[in-house]
Amino acid sequence: MKRRKFIQNAALGSVGATLGATLVACADTDKKTAIALEDQTDKQYPVVIATWDVKNATAAAWQSLQEGKSALQAVIDGCGVEEANAEGQSVGIGGLPDREGRVTLDACVMNEHGNYGAVLCMENIKHPIAVAKMVMEDTPHVILAGVGAEEFAVSQGFERENLLTEASRSGWENWKKTAQYKPIINIENHDTIGMLAMDKDGTISGGCTTSGLAFKMAGRVGDSAVIGSGLFVDNEVGACTATGLGEEVLKTVGSYLVVELMRQGKTPDEACKEAVMRIVNKSKNYKDFQVGYIAMNKKGETGAYSIHNGFVATTFRSGENTTETPGFYNTL
Ligand code: GLY
Repeated sequence: MKRRKFIQNAALGSVGATLGATLVACADTDKKTAIALEDQTDKQYPVVIATWDVKNATAAAWQSLQEGKSALQAVIDGCGVEEANAEGQSVGIGGLPDREGRVTLDACVMNEHGNYGAVLCMENIKHPIAVAKMVMEDTPHVILAGVGAEEFAVSQGFERENLLTEASRSGWENWKKTAQYKPIINIENHDTIGMLAMDKDGTISGGCTTSGLAFKMAGRVGDSAVIGSGLFVDNEVGACTATGLGEEVLKTVGSYLVVELMRQGKTPDEACKEAVMRIVNKSKNYKDFQVGYIAMNKKGETGAYSIHNGFVATTFRSGENTTETPGFYNTL
């Protein structure tokens, strides 16, 4: 058979199948169009959400998104506001020190490509989140710790400064009178700052920054700079970040868990609640510490949950900057 004829016959023989496939394709296209329209109406972005009442920080991130900056840069700009706020005693300058009086900072970022960068236990540099971004983008590594992180920051143009303010020094001097190790729930209504941002195209990035547990042992690192615990971003599904007692978040790989629960179909609220309940169910002493999660899914829907009341989350959406109390398990 000549090749041309074979093609004709083959075409005729498969007409039913082809027609069927065409109908399926049409239905598929209609479905895709319907989903696209639904997504269009359901979409709730751009949006920024952060742990605690940090309206100045979410406003800065929102402003960056309005200027067309990336979701990653928005998070860095937003978290940077709190890192530079010397009044806040849990992040950046003014953070409460460890037992030896040293302020050591942890921070990380994660972008829409699943790239991650972190600094752990870094001293003398007030913007660890910006350094974390540089670790991600400008080194062959994902984590730098301690003196190495500090030296890298200085090599990138960051200035060394004393991060121990008078207020934090006096908090430490007071603590030394009893030197009791005890996590403080809802420290001054402000703790680790985790922030998630989604830009106008639905691209997600996140960041997390902290001075960690007040009066911790020297060298202690919490969840905030550890991928999957203090922060996780999967641009196909959503993102989550945590605040509270890092040891408990680390043991349950909390932020990764929340994203995986959203992948299985849970809303951000439901996913955060289930991750909190894992901790409550495993830890007999859950009454002694706080953990809170915030999350967003691919539609830009946001949610949060914490063990105890007192935790709040701030969301900037549609030009409005709102701080709200999410669901919680236990009333203090
Ligand atoms: N979530 C902050 C820390 O435990 O270090």
